[in-house]
Amino acid sequence: MSAKNSRLPGFYKTSIPERRSALCEAVDIPLEELTDALSGGGIDPDAADKIVENVIGTYALPFGVALNFQINQADYIVPMVVEEPSVIAAATNAAKMIRAGGGFKATIDASIMASQIQVYDVKNIAIAQERIIAAKRVLLDHAAQSVAQLVSLGGGPRDLEVRVLAPDMIVVHVFTDCLDAMGANMVNTIAEAIGDEVASLAEGKLGLRILSNLCDRRLVRATCRVPADAVAAKNTSGEQTIDGIVNASRFAELDPYRAATHNKGIMNGVDPVVIATGNDWRAVEAAAHAFAARSGQYSPLAVWRKHKSPEGPVLEGFLEMPMSLGIIGGTLRVHPTARLALRLLNVDSAADLTMVAACAGLASNLAALRALATEGIQRGHMSLHARSVALNAGAQGPEVEQVAEKLANEKNTTLERAKEVLVEIRGRNGSEG
Ligand code: MEV
Repeated sequence: MSAKNSRLPGFYKTSIPERRSALCEAVDIPLEELTDALSGGGIDPDAADKIVENVIGTYALPFGVALNFQINQADYIVPMVVEEPSVIAAATNAAKMIRAGGGFKATIDASIMASQIQVYDVKNIAIAQERIIAAKRVLLDHAAQSVAQLVSLGGGPRDLEVRVLAPDMIVVHVFTDCLDAMGANMVNTIAEAIGDEVASLAEGKLGLRILSNLCDRRLVRATCRVPADAVAAKNTSGEQTIDGIVNASRFAELDPYRAATHNKGIMNGVDPVVIATGNDWRAVEAAAHAFAARSGQYSPLAVWRKHKSPEGPVLEGFLEMPMSLGIIGGTLRVHPTARLALRLLNVDSAADLTMVAACAGLASNLAALRALATEGIQRGHMSLHARSVALNAGAQGPEVEQVAEKLANEKNTTLERAKEVLVEIRGRNGSEG
């Protein structure tokens, strides 16, 4: 499943109603369904009141789509909910470059989440470990009984391990395949269901029973290959751009201060997809950063290398990160816009959704590094800002680009100047016509 085609040239130049129609055509959704799901930010205050506490209203964010995504040979239109300008345009542009090299390749592990059961004041750690491992089958059976529905669908507890944290403290991890769910509720249920039994086997006191957000058995990987021609920037050759991006990657690999910003650029792509689809972005953030620090040095979640192929230099990107997303339960039950986001993506598994989010992360990272390694990011921001000022000044159709380009070149994006430029352009266009 995917979109018929995620290449919609000139999409950004069209009006909101035109974009909606084009999307409905690309993903086979009735226009009315799309419009309804997008009206009023998705949920009304009464629905919101049932989701969280002390509700006084709702808070809307822009909902856009990133285009050009091709992942494992299938096209995806990627829904993104985000407040930061340039993020969607950057992901769209980078996905186009990556498409030129054959698109993204992505792989993913099973949806394994760990329940943590902490036991402290343990008298004899070795005996505790031995008894828990000996009772593994029984414990996993009891765990399975607490999530019978998941088991009936083919998921459920798969394995268990004991970790020694201190001479008097152990933690038992129960690993559960959560299939298409994010899994937090089920994994917490398991921890609570077998906690007492674990503590009594260990002859210790029962401590916390909760999932771990460091879901490092639920990794997603995305890779891409971008030919030099596709990555070339204004005034910078393809090979120079590749060298600049590889140098930026090395900087992040050597320096945690840079790695934090590099990873922020990745999360610029990931989080908007996570939010659009009604998933828990705090969980995704927690996992990403804990994983990034796993070696003891905070490191980049994606790295870039230059490959010399017979056809010329190629830029290769590799991303690996943990991610726990669901396509059932949670916010999706109550949020029509989150459901619409999944409809736009046309994914039918949490695995596919997660691969899309990871590819959006890799695309965002590429866009940021390419800009930073060449002209810097401010010019791109200026162009986008100039375009919205041009629209505000009344520019229409091709005028928008003409006005925006002039404003960006002049580094003057005031509304007054936009209006003057528009008058000049109309005069010129009129005299030419
Ligand atoms: C801005 O939102 C993200 C960047 O700072 C990422 C990066 O520096 O790689 C541009």
